[in-house]
Amino acid sequence: MNDATRKPIRKAVFPVAGLGTRFLPATKAIPKEMLPIIDRPLIQYAVDEAREAGIEQLIFVTGRGKTAIVEHFDMAFELETTMKERAKTLELLEPTRIQPGNLVAVRQQVPLGLGHAIWCARAIVGDEPFAIFLPDELMIGQPGCMKQMVEAYGELGGNLISVLEVPQEEVSSYGVIAPGERRGAITEVKGLVEKPKREAAPSNLIISGRYILQPEVMRVLESQEKGAGGEIQLTDAMARMIGQQPFHAVTFAGRRFDCGSKAGFVEATLALALERDDMGADVRAMAHRLLGD
Ligand code: G1P
Repeated sequence: MNDATRKPIRKAVFPVAGLGTRFLPATKAIPKEMLPIIDRPLIQYAVDEAREAGIEQLIFVTGRGKTAIVEHFDMAFELETTMKERAKTLELLEPTRIQPGNLVAVRQQVPLGLGHAIWCARAIVGDEPFAIFLPDELMIGQPGCMKQMVEAYGELGGNLISVLEVPQEEVSSYGVIAPGERRGAITEVKGLVEKPKREAAPSNLIISGRYILQPEVMRVLESQEKGAGGEIQLTDAMARMIGQQPFHAVTFAGRRFDCGSKAGFVEATLALALERDDMGADVRAMAHRLLGD
C-alpha cells in the first residue's frame, strides 16, 4: 500500500450549512448545530470527539446565518474579562478553545448536497487525508467513534467509514454498504449505495456520519454527477474509489443518537442527562414521576 494513504489525520471537515428546517421555528435565527444537548451545543460534541482523536484543524463548511458556530469557538474577550474580574473560573469555556489558526470556515453558497459541501473544503484539506463529521449523528463511546476509526486507520490506511446496523425498513434513509470480508469490527467495503430502495439494499449496514478519506476524493467529487434526491452525493464519489484504494468500514462500539430528528434529540438529551453526576439522580426521579411509576 502507498504510504501516503497512512499520513496522520490532522484535519476534519464539518458540513454545517444545512437549513435545519425540521427544527423550525427553533432554527430560524440559530443554526441547528447550536441547539444544546443539556449545556453543550450539538456541534461541541463532534468537535470534542475530533480533538480526542488527535485532530487539530477544524474546517466548517457553513452558509448564511451560521456565524454563531464560528463565534462559539472564538475567544469571547468581554465575557472572559468580565468573568475574571468577578473571580469566576473559565473552566466551562475550555472545550471552546481552539489554537489560533486551527479553525477555518468556508462557504457552501448553494445547497447542492453533502458531496458538494465536502468539495467546498478542498483548498483547505489540500493533499492530506482528512476526517468528516456529520454533527447530527451524536456518537457516544469510550473511546469516541473517531478515535476508534483512527486506531483502525493506523493499521489499514486508506479510506474508512463508520457503520452500524439498522432494521431493514430504515435503510432507504441512509448510505448502505455492500460488505465483503469481516474481521472483528472491520468490514471490507465492496460497494456503496446512497438511499437505496429497501429491496435493493445490499445490507442493513449504514454509514453513520464519520469518515476518514484520502484527498483523492476531492478529485472524484469534481466530476460527480447528481445522485439520490438530485444532490451531489459523497457516497457516490466514495463508491468510485473502491478498488483504487483500500476501503473499510468500522462498526462503532458505542451508542449513536440521530439528532437530526426531534425524537432522537430528546432521546440524546435524556440519555446524557441520566448519566451525569451533577443531575442524573434528579432527572431519573423526574422521569419516574412523569411516567407515573
Ligand atoms: C447523509 C449521507 C448518508 C449517511 C447519513 C448519516 O445522509 O449521505 O450516506 O448514511 O448522512 O446520517 P443525509 O442524512 O444527509 O440524508
